[in-house]
Amino acid sequence: MKKIMAGLLTLGALTLSLQAYDQAERIQDMQIMEVSMVEIQRGILYNNKTMVLKGVESLKKISRKVEISNNDDMDYSASFAKKQTANIIRYADKLQVNIKANQKHAATSNYTKILNQCVSCHNKIRKWNQ
Ligand code: HEC
Repeated sequence: MKKIMAGLLTLGALTLSLQAYDQAERIQDMQIMEVSMVEIQRGILYNNKTMVLKGVESLKKISRKVEISNNDDMDYSASFAKKQTANIIRYADKLQVNIKANQKHAATSNYTKILNQCVSCHNKIRKWNQ
């Protein structure tokens, strides 16, 4: 009996870890990206490089893991989503270089480019519910 229970528990844990990226996780990741963007903007305005770099790191980390999949009933385009997230990472890398070189205007311009990627994806993939 103990053995069966242990087996069931292992199976349960395995199922949990194999569970697909779902909408709740996506919403959570989106919120983290939003906070990262705020951190980047605040860092630029407060002359705080550390804050900008922290925001960039967190934005890149989450962008890599965001998935828009067909596992749910959402209107989607996986290749489009991949391109958008790749662009976010590319502009975030540029922003990182800019801020280290004290080029705040260039950093702000890359910040806007990132925001445009967010908006493009939202326009195409996300259905407005308001
Ligand atoms: C690949 C497509 C895609 C990209 C790129 C993207 N988003 Fe989203 N975003 C979505 C989708 C889809 C939703 C709707 C979430 C859901 O209901 O599953 C969403 C929802 C959100 C929300 C609302 C979350 C909530 O609580 O309902 C925020 C905030 C957000 N995104 C921020 C961002 C930011 C900031 C960026 C850019 C750094 C970004 N998103 C880039 C697809 C994207």
